[in-house]
Amino acid sequence: MFFVHPQIKLNSKVFSSFFKKPNLNYLKKKLYSYFPDKQIVFTDMGRTAFKIIIEKLNLRNSKIIFPAYICDIFYPIFKTYNIKPIFVDIDLQTFNASQDKILSVATPEAKAVLISHTYGLINNIDKIRNLTIIEDCAHSFGFKKAGKLGAVSFFSLYKQFPSLRGGMLVCPKDWKIKLPKTSFSFRDFISLLNSFPLFAFMFKSFGSRTPRLAENFIREEKTIKPAGINNVSLNIFSQFLEDFEKQLEKRKKLALLFQKELEKLGFRTQVSENNVFCYVSALIPKRLEEKRDTFVNKLKKQRIFCTRIWHTPIIINPKVQEEYNINLNEFPNTVEASKRIINLPLQNYYTEKDIRIMSKIIEKTVKKL
Ligand SMILES: Cc1ncc(COP(=O)(O)O)c(C=O)c1O
Repeated sequence: MFFVHPQIKLNSKVFSSFFKKPNLNYLKKKLYSYFPDKQIVFTDMGRTAFKIIIEKLNLRNSKIIFPAYICDIFYPIFKTYNIKPIFVDIDLQTFNASQDKILSVATPEAKAVLISHTYGLINNIDKIRNLTIIEDCAHSFGFKKAGKLGAVSFFSLYKQFPSLRGGMLVCPKDWKIKLPKTSFSFRDFISLLNSFPLFAFMFKSFGSRTPRLAENFIREEKTIKPAGINNVSLNIFSQFLEDFEKQLEKRKKLALLFQKELEKLGFRTQVSENNVFCYVSALIPKRLEEKRDTFVNKLKKQRIFCTRIWHTPIIINPKVQEEYNINLNEFPNTVEASKRIINLPLQNYYTEKDIRIMSKIIEKTVKKL
């Protein structure tokens, strides 16, 4: 069984996460070596950190440049803070909005830009001067430059660590931030089971037949107001951080091998240099565009559980289209990516054999489509 979201191989350390206090000294030492001049604040989720940024930078009622290809969790935040997004199309080989494209949509009223390192591929920006840069590192923990290009940045820990929850704000040292604590609830515990292959299999197999069940396992913010991370998630993050760099090197090698196999089958893969591969993402061959979802379902039956992040990026949401007057013709690459994108499973503990098994199954499935 192969899953995209971080999985835990049976590991007794995870159970101790329920009982101990987080080792803050270790975390500080390790993380401040990445960000020596900044302050690090752990939040319940990545979006919480983004909300804090909006408040601290006084970006309420302002215009912010946003990649059109991003999740729609930002939509309610736009509404809360009365933000008017200026969307920018992406490039298909990076899935990022290039700085030239960003500069081409920048107007004098735009106060800031959100730079996303989509799927873990760093979006290098060095020409953007007049805008405050907010770096969305939700997918890019571990790349040395990630979080250092902008004025402020935020991470979503549970994308790359099996911590269930957790965001991280990296901001100036003089920001005064006090967050209420959150606890790890029974519901969180049930969701954490999704990090174990057997439970993930059950959720994915039966969850789709009873949509409420699947819905119930989607992470939600604990409170609408910004809140802190819970101790269990922080402990799990801390444990997996210990050998993160080593794991990352392994992950990159496997991702490169997977990309090669996919390219042979006509998939279009993402640029691999400067990529930490939070997701191994590719565009299904153009001729199979209409069959992308059938392909995903056929793989599911063979126990390869892919995701389609984002088959519905923010600009595809009808409410967003209406509210911000979106003309999809202005975003051809975002629309194309939404139709063809597929994220393939990769876990740090996989071996080359796992990649070859998946590649073979994918090859056979593609041929039968
Ligand atoms: C690019 C990107 N930014 C921000 C977020 C928000 O992160 P979180 O789910 O931790 O709030 C997500 C995920 O939902 C994301 O994919």
